[in-house]
Amino acid sequence: MPTTTTAADASTTVGTTPKADALPGLAPETSAAPSSALFPAPSPAPVRDWPRGTADIRYGGDYNPEQWPREVWIEDIALMKDAGINLVSIGIFSWVLLEPSEGVYDFSFLDDIFSLLADAGIDVDLGTPTAAPPAWFWKKYPQSRPVTRDGLPLAFGSRGMVSPSSPEYRRASVALVEKLAERYASHPALAMWHVHNEYGAPISDSYDDASVTAFRAWLADRYGSLDAVNEAWGTTFWGQRYGQWDEIDAPRTSASITNPTHRLDFQRFTSDALLACFVAERDAIRRFTPDLAVTTNFMATNCPSVDYWKWAKEVDVVANDHYLVAERLDNHIHLAMDADFTRSLAKGKPWMLLEHSTSAVNWQPRNIAKRPGEMARNSLSHMGRGADAIMFFQFRASRYGAEKFHSAMLPHAGTSSRVWREVVQLGADLQRLAAVRGSRVTSRVAILWDIESFWAQDLEWRPSMELGHRERIEAFYTQLYLRGVSVDFAHPRDDLSGYDVVFAPALYLVDRDSAANLDSYVRGGGHLATSFFSGIVDETDTVYAGAFPGALRSTLGIAVEEFLPLHENETVTLDNGMIGSAWSEDLALDGAEAVASFTSGPGAGIPAITRNAHGSGSAWYTSTKLENDDLGRFVSDVLADAGIVSELLPEGLEITTRRTESETYTFLINHSEQPIAAPVQGIDLLTGAASAAEVPARGVSVVLTSATS
Ligand code: GAL
Repeated sequence: MPTTTTAADASTTVGTTPKADALPGLAPETSAAPSSALFPAPSPAPVRDWPRGTADIRYGGDYNPEQWPREVWIEDIALMKDAGINLVSIGIFSWVLLEPSEGVYDFSFLDDIFSLLADAGIDVDLGTPTAAPPAWFWKKYPQSRPVTRDGLPLAFGSRGMVSPSSPEYRRASVALVEKLAERYASHPALAMWHVHNEYGAPISDSYDDASVTAFRAWLADRYGSLDAVNEAWGTTFWGQRYGQWDEIDAPRTSASITNPTHRLDFQRFTSDALLACFVAERDAIRRFTPDLAVTTNFMATNCPSVDYWKWAKEVDVVANDHYLVAERLDNHIHLAMDADFTRSLAKGKPWMLLEHSTSAVNWQPRNIAKRPGEMARNSLSHMGRGADAIMFFQFRASRYGAEKFHSAMLPHAGTSSRVWREVVQLGADLQRLAAVRGSRVTSRVAILWDIESFWAQDLEWRPSMELGHRERIEAFYTQLYLRGVSVDFAHPRDDLSGYDVVFAPALYLVDRDSAANLDSYVRGGGHLATSFFSGIVDETDTVYAGAFPGALRSTLGIAVEEFLPLHENETVTLDNGMIGSAWSEDLALDGAEAVASFTSGPGAGIPAITRNAHGSGSAWYTSTKLENDDLGRFVSDVLADAGIVSELLPEGLEITTRRTESETYTFLINHSEQPIAAPVQGIDLLTGAASAAEVPARGVSVVLTSATS
């Protein structure tokens, strides 16, 4: 029988460890020593952190054979072999084919393609098609449709449109997944599972009735009492106090701005509700294939609605989708940032790039095509940052439907196209790089990333519209990238002691545990650097008492009496020649030293950049927005404080390094139109020769240096 998971059940299971005496087979503790016969040694946990099968780098993509007649499948599989493809994700949107009406299953199409792929030695990453419930589902369960904040129920005709708290959806999705898992559990082609598709997109928060009920249960679980909810949300403000649980609604569009903590909690709840959907499917799968990896495709830095630090603990292998913002000239830097964040979610272990594009996408305002070599540079940048699987959306371009103008491995133009030639070349290159698999990236520097802080900061009525956490993180990351400094991302509560420097740009919400963690990191010899509007509120979006920034005031050795936001396009000067914009502050030193002070603007004469020697470390602060070379100087000074010498790399060169105990693989990626002198020499794994003195224009060298050579 399929398990029925209600939204309320699921919301209380997320992140909760069952009590020991509730675990099957475990007797309550007694005074007698347990005998080994009663308590046999636990069998080792299955290793399921990678798709089963080949030791090669995984290469392939989404494959939607249901859009084509069978003879095309035969051709596709032959072409996949030509390109060195060893893994395809199938079934992702095929719910209606597999269950044409409720409880009636037809696996003939999937059986067929499974067999053809198995015969060809191509492994399957089996998608659960639960991002696209069929028309019959919507007809029968219209209450499962998501409702927008403005009260609009969303109609069928697209994908991903379901309330994550709908009990009917949970039941129907798990029922189908159980059938799939039962049927293909022992199929030789099945290498791993791909649950759903990009949770959180396009639907994240839903304001339907089931979500409201589940939200109340989530609040009861988090706070324990209605009084505690009232306290956390500060409901004495504007007379919002709740006297009964059923007075609490989702934070719908209201006359003016909605209580910010109510909204913040609804974001947290939404991430947990989506995660409960994943966990329900994953657990159904695990009952049949306990040894196979189950994952779902993240959108690492690009999903505004999901707390991936929490999610990463629930997947067997971290998998990510990444699409360039085609019009941004620095999009390769944001690709690198996304890849570094994905590796950090994976705690440094190899991860899978489950989707990216061979060339243009179809959903941006101007879908700029990738130029020759760009796809390989993108792919190898992901790999250089820890990906051991390079996959695309999708194998063969669709001729109809919403994505017919999206690039593919096999474009409409077919095998005579440049894109196909580059796909075949990349497949061969990845085979040459097989030895890189499993090697690790190490970093002495981390950037803090806390989506709860971003959610809170993005609510209305903040002191300036110029307060962009994403903009600041990108700006800091860019300066590190341009210097070839390897960066991990971390959560403010993580153990940071392994990092020499931690940057915390625009970290608005810092709870007390995080504040204590950051303080002890600095006292213990770490170097922390943060920027304005950080450490302002606690986890309930309540301002810390006293001068700003309450959570970090003593660590930074400063006290900010008042924010002094700047006018649009206004700039201010600093006495070290730097220029600031967007923000300044009425800041007093309280233990820190002034590194630079404002010479103009509302804060003229007041410290702008400070450094606090704190314990064995230091805490740096900038109270204005620094950009480009000025931010680069700030970043370099902080690095130098930690003994890290950094210099700008030649323009256009990207460096990232993976290591084993004995080997070093340096990925030298030239994004420029000119050859660049190679800073490292060894064996170029892509050519097999001693590495050339130069990295070719728009090209890549992967240089092996061995500790023993
Ligand atoms: C992804 C999605 C794919 C495809 C792709 C197009 O977000 O998972 O199914 O739509 O975008 O870029």
